[in-house]
Amino acid sequence: MKKIYLIGIGPGNPDYLTLQAINTMKKVDVFFIFEKGERKGFKEFLKIRKEILERYLGRGTYRVVSAKIPERKKNSKSYKEGVKTWRQQKAKVITELIEDKMKDNEIGAFLIWGDPSLYDGHLEILQHILKEGAVNFEYKVIPGITSIQVLAARHKIPLNRIGESIVITTGRRLKEYTLGETINTVVLLDTYSAFKHFKDSDIDIYWGGYLGSKDEILLSGRLKDIIEDLKKIRSEARREKGWLMDTYILRRPEGSER
Ligand SMILES: C[S@@+](CC[C@H](N)C(=O)[O-])C[C@H]1O[C@@H](n2cnc3c(N)ncnc32)[C@H](O)[C@@H]1O
Repeated sequence: MKKIYLIGIGPGNPDYLTLQAINTMKKVDVFFIFEKGERKGFKEFLKIRKEILERYLGRGTYRVVSAKIPERKKNSKSYKEGVKTWRQQKAKVITELIEDKMKDNEIGAFLIWGDPSLYDGHLEILQHILKEGAVNFEYKVIPGITSIQVLAARHKIPLNRIGESIVITTGRRLKEYTLGETINTVVLLDTYSAFKHFKDSDIDIYWGGYLGSKDEILLSGRLKDIIEDLKKIRSEARREKGWLMDTYILRRPEGSER
């Protein structure tokens, strides 16, 4: 039977691969790599994946099959609907890749940014394909270092203090939280500086852009005091590089009022 590995590669530095990821990559016959259009960020993500393959695998020991996937349409009725449609399109492409580009008993793999369990659709897409019964295969997940772990490491902070909870959410959802619920809130996928929602609160922020890369930027402090600097850094980074990937933790200071 065909086998698919979802291999977590960490968030953007070939040093973040685990030994398990490297040993699994060595068994793979074909790596599937998506090309998502011309946007500058996508090209860099592609470059990192190719660098990882070249660094850890011998020449001629594997095949790479690139596939084009449509970009997610931002004009759909709701965000969830938009993502669902996009995942269906992706499922179709992945089904064709498994069917047409792998021989029986071969191993195929997708190199997943960070870890496959964190805001990544590949696992659900594979499960959907199997449920539909279009093509049959076994699959396995190889965990990777997440952007959240790198952020905490770079700021030298634990994600929680003794016995505290941690909330992980997106920029889109942050406004649904009250200060009382944000003892340690990790925010990903924030296009619109959602931290503004807490601009008047006594809350600390630990922010990281392009974590793990040569362009990494770190900033931390009381949100009120650094919010203008942070907004400026974000917009300058976007302008200079053409894209921005950032993650942050909002943390209520110990003993502070809700
Ligand atoms: C679609 S999610 C994928 C998360 C990924 N699976 C992980 O484990 O980190 C993409 C979001 O992860 C965060 N992210 C991923 N890589 C990052 C990096 N190198 N620096 C900062 N944030 C990153 C950003 O919030 C970005 O919007």
